[in-house]
Amino acid sequence: MGKCCKCNGRLLCMCLLPCMMTGHLLIYIMVTIFVTISYTPSKIPIHYIAPGISANSGALASHPLSPFWKLHLDHSSLWNQLQHSLDRHYNPILQGNTSGTLRKPIAKLPTPIRDECLSGCASHKCSKPSQYDVNNIPEQMRLFVRSMHCRSYRMLINQPNMCKRNKTKSGLDYPMLLMAIKSQVGNFENRQAIRETWGRSGFVKGEANKKGGFVRTVFLLGRQDSSTGPHPDLKNFLDLENQKHRDILQWDFRDSFYNLTLKDLLFWRWLKQYCPTAIFIFKGDDDVFVRTGALLDYLSKHWEEHKLRRAITNETHMDLFVGDVISNAMPNRDPSAKYYIPESFYRGAYPTYAGGGGVVYSRSLALRLIEVSTKVCLFPIDDVYLGMCLERLGLSPSHHPGFLTFDLPETDRGNPCAYKSVLLVHRRSPKEMLTLWHKLQDMNSKC
Ligand SMILES: *[C@@H]1O[C@H](CO)[C@@H](O)[C@H](O)[C@H]1NC(C)=O
Ligand SMILES: *[C@@H]1O[C@H](CO)[C@@H](O)[C@H](O)[C@H]1NC(C)=O
Ligand SMILES: *[C@@H]1O[C@H](CO)[C@@H](O)[C@H](O)[C@H]1NC(C)=O
Ligand SMILES: *[C@@H]1O[C@H](CO)[C@@H](O)[C@H](O)[C@H]1NC(C)=O
Repeated sequence: MGKCCKCNGRLLCMCLLPCMMTGHLLIYIMVTIFVTISYTPSKIPIHYIAPGISANSGALASHPLSPFWKLHLDHSSLWNQLQHSLDRHYNPILQGNTSGTLRKPIAKLPTPIRDECLSGCASHKCSKPSQYDVNNIPEQMRLFVRSMHCRSYRMLINQPNMCKRNKTKSGLDYPMLLMAIKSQVGNFENRQAIRETWGRSGFVKGEANKKGGFVRTVFLLGRQDSSTGPHPDLKNFLDLENQKHRDILQWDFRDSFYNLTLKDLLFWRWLKQYCPTAIFIFKGDDDVFVRTGALLDYLSKHWEEHKLRRAITNETHMDLFVGDVISNAMPNRDPSAKYYIPESFYRGAYPTYAGGGGVVYSRSLALRLIEVSTKVCLFPIDDVYLGMCLERLGLSPSHHPGFLTFDLPETDRGNPCAYKSVLLVHRRSPKEMLTLWHKLQDMNSKC
């Protein structure tokens, strides 16, 4: 003992050092164990879900966990407010909650509120003023708000015989795919390029398996005139074009970006009346390129599966909705952006939706969308509106990696083989459509 006290500092150091090191090691191990035990994976926002076609539930991804619309009333946002009243109008349970009893009959909504969200009105009566302060929002948004209760517009050009058979055969034709393309009066070149390439009406062969299907193409147009900016009068040219091709649908509303949702609604109505036999619908823009043959292959596969299922389960409807799916998106709050949505109009996140370029869905789903759309207030961005309607049906769109909203890498765009797994690319000019179409003709032998 005495000897040890006399030890010099060096010896002390050599004695203590191993002890200290062991101590540190113990602390390290304890901390590691602790961290491992208490670790929970952090929530990573998912931007894309990709259930693809192999998801066991068939074509549809799982049901979203919570509704995107808030159940409680947000007085500061117009859309939320209107939707709130509409929800209560259609849902007796929500209504019962406020009064405390479920058995109370559904009270009628105050007419002004209901009308503001939903009514069929003639186009000339659409300047309904709203209690909403429209002075602090951009002009386009103001126009939208003023007419968002209007959903019925007169048809200027119709194609009642689009899905009727030839004189030789009676009855209705069964197009495998009806392509509904959003266009504008002035885009003659885009429409012609589409007719000559991927949107050709008639029988189209599939790519991999030789089966194909009948394809019909229609173009969805609004009115383009002095109210949408300075436009030359193209009415006569449009009439000529329509005489030649008989594939134009035009309605009497102002063709503007925020009015695009109307094209979906009015097209669905047209579909129900004039082409209820189409099996699948492609809805897209006139500046995309679609590999129609490959799309038909994909759809035939679904159709065959559906027929098999139907034989066993008697299930008649097929819920298919595919595209480039975007989840967890928030409204754009930058007033200079094209997609700007002010907070005074809408609060909350967007539902999962399929964005950009084009989507494909089944006719039976389209018929359900018509119904449910009467329960969802119009929203100025068409893709988001479709997402809202799907959510209302308890469905969410399926992601398909072949829908390229953001195009291929620049270096691959000229290489035909790079398009092998592509169904749709955005965006292509009429000239590029023609070039690409010819390049892709003998793809199967080359790639
Ligand atoms: C029903 O009312 C209760 C309280 O009155 C409220 O907490 C609840 O959020 C309401 N539910 C719905 C669906 O509005
Ligand atoms: C009508 O039938 C003829 C001959 O079968 C065919 O060439 C033509 O494309 C058909 N028309 C339509 C609109 O399908
Ligand atoms: C949509 O069309 C209607 C009818 O033409 C028009 O009153 C309204 O201003 C248009 N909305 C927008 C945002 O252009
Ligand atoms: C299945 O089909 C048969 C014959 O068409 C029909 O009688 C029966 O009601 C159907 N069953 C269901 C569950 O729909």
